[in-house]
Amino acid sequence: IPVDPFDLVIFGATGDLARRKILPGLFRRFCSGQMPEDARIIGAARSDMDTEGFRRMVAEATREFGGGRHCEDGTLEQFLERIDYEAVDAMGEGGWEALKTHLRPGTVRAFYFSVGPALFGALAERLRHFGLADDESRVVVEKPFGHDLDSAKALNATLRQHFHEDQIYRIDHYLGKETVQNLMAVRFGNMLFEPLWNAQYVDHIQITVAETVDVGGRGGYYDKSGAMRDMVQNHLMQLLCLIAMEPPARFEPDSVRDEKLKVIRALDPVDYHHIVRGQYDADDDQPGYRAHVENPRSTTESFVAMKCHISNWRWAGTPFYLRTGKKLRARASEIAVVFKDAPHSIFGPEAGTHRNVLSIRLQPNEGMTLGVTIKEPGPGGMRLVDVPLDMSFAEALGPEAEEVPDAYERLIMDVIRGNQTLFMRGDEVEAAWAWTDPIIAGWQSRGEVPKPYDPGSAGPDDALMLMHRDGRRWRDIRV
Ligand code: BG6
Repeated sequence: IPVDPFDLVIFGATGDLARRKILPGLFRRFCSGQMPEDARIIGAARSDMDTEGFRRMVAEATREFGGGRHCEDGTLEQFLERIDYEAVDAMGEGGWEALKTHLRPGTVRAFYFSVGPALFGALAERLRHFGLADDESRVVVEKPFGHDLDSAKALNATLRQHFHEDQIYRIDHYLGKETVQNLMAVRFGNMLFEPLWNAQYVDHIQITVAETVDVGGRGGYYDKSGAMRDMVQNHLMQLLCLIAMEPPARFEPDSVRDEKLKVIRALDPVDYHHIVRGQYDADDDQPGYRAHVENPRSTTESFVAMKCHISNWRWAGTPFYLRTGKKLRARASEIAVVFKDAPHSIFGPEAGTHRNVLSIRLQPNEGMTLGVTIKEPGPGGMRLVDVPLDMSFAEALGPEAEEVPDAYERLIMDVIRGNQTLFMRGDEVEAAWAWTDPIIAGWQSRGEVPKPYDPGSAGPDDALMLMHRDGRRWRDIRV
């Protein structure tokens, strides 16, 4: 279904995110017929480029970062006709009047700030000052949304000077991922799981976002952030919220976001014995973390594993183990809900202990596996074995599932539709920082140095110990 006609201005349009994600994503939406004929995209950046030059850049970006099944010959030319460019000085006066001439009255108007947070205030102010934005306009902002609670509050305050909360779309691209939304479908669309979804039946939950990439090329940004700020405060926190929240009354922005906020607010402070930080080492032919950043003595973590508790009726006593890191064995993200042992085994001790595990694979190979215990076939008596009830979404749903829109495509279309359900609200972001800040402050005050780990491993041994101490083990990181 096509969305309403829109004017989308992308600030930072020549930057990496615009080239890799936003523009190719818009192209794919165009190819699939979701972008209406009279939609306009206006690139804005400092570079003194003209529209022709920008269109060439967009064409290259779409070639490099992908069209899709629906992108036939000739569609790129039609898409490019919808694109303009204006050189704009974010901190000055230049270009704003010219940019305004591209905007049509009565059309949905969105401004994508694909720039560093230092520019958010200047852009918001000028959008109002030059009369480009009104109370109906939408602004889209990217992470990192602040560096800590104070900076996030300051950013919120700056944006709210010019826009209402319902005009501000804070992106966490994990919320745009198809399988992440599937978490809600699985939990709240089935009768099967929800009655068991609590501390009485769930032993623990594991959330893993493992990456194989290093921080090379992004060292400048990453070294000031680390895995805690870059991944845990936002992406892992969002996954934790969706897995742990109470059923919202409706799949609507504030219903969902209220429930997520309650989860973050119910998180206990994390005991420092329950966190492991790691930093990848060099191996024979590849440089280690410290060679990827400026500071050869950097103590920034590229890996973090932790045990958290949510103090509420549903989850009291059920630990949530989170881990994420760069340069690990495989790119694999998974949420595993590990159920408790059956209360009594009628098969005797020789049958062993068996646990049901519901594993939701976010990427790659999106799907779900439910481990169930059955009888081992054969005449050898009642011996039990665990088998997976395995469902690959791509296999089950066919080509429809293979052409899953990228997270950014989905989210940009939601901005145009004016649907904030999959965007973070200001109080949610602040609550996440309020939980993260003391953890980071603790590392700093104790002068903690991250544990080295081998590239291609599952992280530092201490992370394994974090689970072993509790008589549990991490699931394998594998594709
Ligand atoms: C970004 C982080 O937000 O998410 C990156 O800044 C990380 O460090 C990326 O690599 C992971 O996203 P995805 O979609 O590849 O899992």
